[in-house]
Amino acid sequence: MSGLTMRAVVITHAGGPEVLVVRDAARPIPGPDEILVRICASALNRADLLQRQGKYPAPAGWPADIPGLEFAGEVAECGSRARMWRTGQRVLGLVGGGAHAEFLVIHERAVAEVPEKLSWSEAAAVPEAFITAHDAMIAQAELRSGERVLIPAVGSGVGLAAAQLAQAIGAVAYGTSRTPDKIERARDYGIAEGAVVRDPIAELPRHTREWTDGSGFNVVLDLVGGPYAIAAVDALALKGRLILVGTVGGGRAELALGSVMSKRLTIRGTVMRARPLEERIIAVQKFATEVLPLFERGALRAVVDSEFPLDEIRAAHERLQSNATFGKVVVRMS
Ligand SMILES: NC(=O)c1ccc[n+]([C@@H]2O[C@H](COP(=O)([O-])OP(=O)(O)OC[C@H]3O[C@@H](n4cnc5c(N)ncnc54)[C@H](OP(=O)(O)O)[C@@H]3O)[C@@H](O)[C@H]2O)c1
Repeated sequence: MSGLTMRAVVITHAGGPEVLVVRDAARPIPGPDEILVRICASALNRADLLQRQGKYPAPAGWPADIPGLEFAGEVAECGSRARMWRTGQRVLGLVGGGAHAEFLVIHERAVAEVPEKLSWSEAAAVPEAFITAHDAMIAQAELRSGERVLIPAVGSGVGLAAAQLAQAIGAVAYGTSRTPDKIERARDYGIAEGAVVRDPIAELPRHTREWTDGSGFNVVLDLVGGPYAIAAVDALALKGRLILVGTVGGGRAELALGSVMSKRLTIRGTVMRARPLEERIIAVQKFATEVLPLFERGALRAVVDSEFPLDEIRAAHERLQSNATFGKVVVRMS
C-alpha cells in the first residue's frame, strides 16, 4: 500500500474555516510496531479550531498541517512486528493530529477495539470525550462512588461523557450551561441537578448551597476555566479536587489562596494532546478495560450532535465554534 495518496483536510494558513481545504496528501506508512488505519469517521475538538487559527501548533512528531485528534476505523495494514490486530478489525483511538484524513498510522498498543454496538459515527464520538473525562475525573481527580462532582459546560462532548461516567461509578453529577435546553437534555445523561449559569462567581454559590447543603463538591471538572476556576475554589468541599481541563472561558484566574489552603484543596491540570506515546497507551488501555465494556452493556452512550462529510469540513468547524452543539461534531470519511 506504500506510495499511495489519501484525501486529507489541510490547514493552508492561519485563519477562519475558509483556510481549510480537502486535497491529496501522502498516505502514511506504518513502522514496525504500528498499524495503518483506514479512518471511517473522526470528530472535531476545540484544539482543531485553535490549530486552524494558528494558536495551538501540532505537538512534535505529528502532522503540522492536517488536524484531527480522534478516529474510528478499520485496520488496513500491520507493521512487520505488530501482532495485536488483523486487517479489518474495528479500532478507535487518539492521536496528536492527522485524523481528518482517510488514513493514519498509530502504535498498535495505542488503540482499542470498537464495541460492536457502536456505529462508525458513534465510535468516532467516543475517544476524546470519554478518555479525557475518565482520565481527568476518575484516574486523576479520583472521583469515587457517593461523591459529588460539578461539571460546568455539561452539554459539551467531555461534559456529557463525564456525567455518564460519574453516574456509572455511583457518584452524583451536577451540571451547568449557559444554554437552558442543554441542561434539560443533560438530565437524560445522568446529572442529578443542573442550572443555567452565565456568571459563575455570582451564581454558583447559591446552587452549591442548594445542591450540597453547603458542604460543597468533592470534585470540579473544570472544562471552561477563567471565572469558573475562581468559582470552583469556593464551591469545593474540604479536601476537594479541582481538575483543570479547558480554558474556553479564559486562561487566567485569580484564585483565593487562603481557601485553597484552609480547605486543603488539590488543583491539577491535564492535557491529552501532547502526551508522549507511553502515557497515551496507559490512558487508552485503562479506558479499554474500565470504560468500553460499559458501552456494550448500554450504561454509556456516545452523543453525536451532528455529522458532516469530509468535504464539508468548513461547515463542521462553524458548527463547533457556534457553541450551540450538544455532544460531538462527527466528520465522516465515506
Ligand atoms: N485537556 C484536555 O486534554 C482536553 C481534551 C478535550 C477537551 N478539552 C477541553 O474541554 C472543554 C470541553 O471540550 P469539548 O470538546 O467537550 O467542548 P465542546 O463540545 O466544544 O463544548 C464546549 C461548550 O462550552 C461552553 N462554553 C463555550 N465558551 C464558554 C464560555 N466562555 N463560558 C462558559 N461556557 C462556555 C459552550 O456551551 P454552553 O451552551 O454551555 O455555553 C460550548 O458548547 C474545552 O475547553 C476543551 O478545550 C481539554
